[in-house]
Amino acid sequence: MINIALPKGRLGEKAYALFTAAGYGDGRSDIGRRLSFRDEKSGFNYFWVKPSDVAVYVERGAADVGVVGKDVLDEDRPDVYELTDLKIGKCKMCVAARADFKDDFSRPLRVASKFVRSAEQYYSSVGRRITVIKLNGSVELAPILGLSDVIFDIVETGDTLKANGLRVIAQANEISARFIANKAAYKFKRDIISRLVKQLDGVTEND
Ligand code: PRP
Repeated sequence: MINIALPKGRLGEKAYALFTAAGYGDGRSDIGRRLSFRDEKSGFNYFWVKPSDVAVYVERGAADVGVVGKDVLDEDRPDVYELTDLKIGKCKMCVAARADFKDDFSRPLRVASKFVRSAEQYYSSVGRRITVIKLNGSVELAPILGLSDVIFDIVETGDTLKANGLRVIAQANEISARFIANKAAYKFKRDIISRLVKQLDGVTEND
């Protein structure tokens, strides 16, 4: 038996479609407000959890495996195995600012982000002193209201930036969904998890 934590929302739906294509689901993830369901054929149990919580469930063994964005792994650095790139949920971690932004190197740059650690790491790699302002969402508003100079955030289509009059001024790293496993579960259920990885790799899109 395998317990699988999937991120609630569009990414989770795409991930479940991959599990279905790999032979571990029936493609019907529409289960109303229930947060868990079982695929009778494979005997796998699926759980819908908040995207940023997937790694918590997996790290602590409440789920054996899960699907999580690389952004969350980079930020939270959970003690789990990252087994494969599912090549879905592709986006980029970017720095964005207002069109009239000009960096003032005489003071630390004010960066608004949900990803504090990743922002710090990026700016340390480019040698720029910053002050991070931690936000939990609607980050695009920060430069507009003068709360920050720039934002450090995920860009997928770029529509949110455009709608708020911001533009990308630098790109950090590329993001996609990863298949992760609890370390003990990987040891004790290695055969089935390895098989799952192989089958998922067989149905993921090639670059
Ligand atoms: C992310 C990100 C941007 C948006 C980018 O937010 O923080 O706001 O998606 O997508 P786009 O380039 O396709 O417009 P998310 O939807 O995860 O919501 P959140 O703000 O609640 O985290």
